[in-house]
Amino acid sequence: MRRARIAVLVSGGGTNLQALIDAQAKGVIHSGELSLVISNCEGAYALTRAENAGIPTLTLTKKALGGQTPFEAAIIKALDEYQIDLIVLAGFLSILTEDFTARYPRRIINIHPSLIPAFCGKGYYGLRVHEAALERGVKLTGATVHFVNEIPDGGEIILQQAVAVQAGDTPEVLQRRVMEEAEWSLLPRATEIVCQEICEQK
Ligand code: GAR
Repeated sequence: MRRARIAVLVSGGGTNLQALIDAQAKGVIHSGELSLVISNCEGAYALTRAENAGIPTLTLTKKALGGQTPFEAAIIKALDEYQIDLIVLAGFLSILTEDFTARYPRRIINIHPSLIPAFCGKGYYGLRVHEAALERGVKLTGATVHFVNEIPDGGEIILQQAVAVQAGDTPEVLQRRVMEEAEWSLLPRATEIVCQEICEQK
């Protein structure tokens, strides 16, 4: 059976992309293949990780392309060219429009660094999520992988993993623990689950 072709969209350091690359090498992801990495930020370290793993990369920025509509059109063109079946948002910090998400029902997944519905939606990304969790004083946080629809962080939940907050945590320390104890295993597992679903439908 043909494996599902995966595009990973990134904006920054790409530790979640690295987790996907490592999971593919170990066979945790075996129903899909990492086929393209797209960054919306010039020089994102995630691009270097992809190049080191031999995965084709593209950098597409709203600024260079002249706005959201041509930016999304360029992504769609690349996804078509590479015959992508599944789009994984791995630290991709640009919100996609409904026009875009509606084209790919159950074919876009995202990792978010909290237990949705806590600390999610517009304005909650990266370190800000952990700052908000610490400000609120929650004792448990975590990560969620979910399908992407027109509501930011509002699509069906695929997997979640709780992580304990510890006394004295800074946002940076908490962010790291959530990545180590939740994100880096959750995203590859969820990716495999959805790839299997796609393969079964082919
Ligand atoms: C990760 O913590 C990811 O969950 C978060 O950005 C970080 C990216 O790190 N994503 C969001 O906040 C999306 N709303 P990475 O580039 O090292 O994978």
